[in-house]
Amino acid sequence: MRGKLTHQKAINRNILLNPGPATTSQRVKEAMIVEDICPREEEFGQLMHDICDGILEIGNGSDTHEVGLFVASGTGAMEATLVSAIGDNDRVLIITNGAYGLRMEQICKSYGLEYDTAFSFGDYPEPAKVKSVLNSGKFTHLAIIHHETSTGMMNPLEEISAVCREVGVKLIVDAMSSYGAYPIDLQETPIDYIFSSSNKCIHGMAGLSFVVFHKDRIAELKANQRAFYFDLYSQWNNLQQKNQLRFTPPVQICYAFMEAILETLEEGVEMRWRRYRANWQVLYDGFKELGFQFFLPDAYQSKILLALDLNSKPDLDFNDLHDFLYKEQITIYPGVIPESNTFRMAVIGDLTLTDMRLVIEKVKEYFNRKD
Ligand SMILES: Cc1ncc(COP(=O)(O)O)c(C=O)c1O
Repeated sequence: MRGKLTHQKAINRNILLNPGPATTSQRVKEAMIVEDICPREEEFGQLMHDICDGILEIGNGSDTHEVGLFVASGTGAMEATLVSAIGDNDRVLIITNGAYGLRMEQICKSYGLEYDTAFSFGDYPEPAKVKSVLNSGKFTHLAIIHHETSTGMMNPLEEISAVCREVGVKLIVDAMSSYGAYPIDLQETPIDYIFSSSNKCIHGMAGLSFVVFHKDRIAELKANQRAFYFDLYSQWNNLQQKNQLRFTPPVQICYAFMEAILETLEEGVEMRWRRYRANWQVLYDGFKELGFQFFLPDAYQSKILLALDLNSKPDLDFNDLHDFLYKEQITIYPGVIPESNTFRMAVIGDLTLTDMRLVIEKVKEYFNRKD
């Protein structure tokens, strides 16, 4: 590991309730301050391999899966997966029950990939319904968002994986805002492709995204090569053969990501999941007590993100609440649900119960303040 520099700077700790880039630990922030290094050096190549190994360990995929690492935001991993996995004779069924499912549709459209969509914004993708669509025999792949960050819905990953296996369809999963926090065990829940990024539930800085894919898919990826920057086979193969990423990596972000992966493994995904759920419950209970209603029924809530219905507080000006909390170093996030007036709060990040209680205290202060 590179030598750490001794320069120290006091950094405020902000409570980010936007769904990533998330609040990071001091340890992850400090990991970015390293000696300069050329990323073509062997030592840096080893760091890239360690990052990939750590990603696989988080999902229990070390024996069965491989990783393609990209210098890109999460959408880059999404694009790389779709353009690399879906061949000329394939057809993908996309579950479009939120903004990110619709983004997958946009990507397929722009590359001319064959696809159909099922479900609308806010719908729950019942596994039986998914199965009946797949039973048409038209599809080679199914693409689904695990945690739809636009609504806060946790889609039924385990059941959908079982359906795909039963009907012999390959499964593509966007686990952008779940991988690292929600326990996904690739041995128990078979998945062909699953992608996420450095800055969500693994709590690193933004700048890297990754695709975890089953070893059995390597031959298809090689045959399907049609993208350039976002070609998953080339990106993976280059690291195996040359011990380097194909294009310039963000050196400091990589060191921080490694630290965040170690932090995730030390906390353990089960414990992190427990922490997220406890944090989410404080927000849910606190806002409910204040008279807020939520976009989703309780049964579908992810326990990672809460979409609040602003119509349940007609007098509330979201921007005013945002600005009040922002001064208190708390960031809340606007909604994206069409024809619904919502805002969002996520518990992604190095956040504690004390942070959540402070959020509720400050929101109560906002409603009680005498202008
Ligand atoms: C489920 C999901 N998929 C894809 C993305 C896109 O990621 P990015 O904004 O990093 O490109 C996001 C971003 O929040 C997301 O939540």
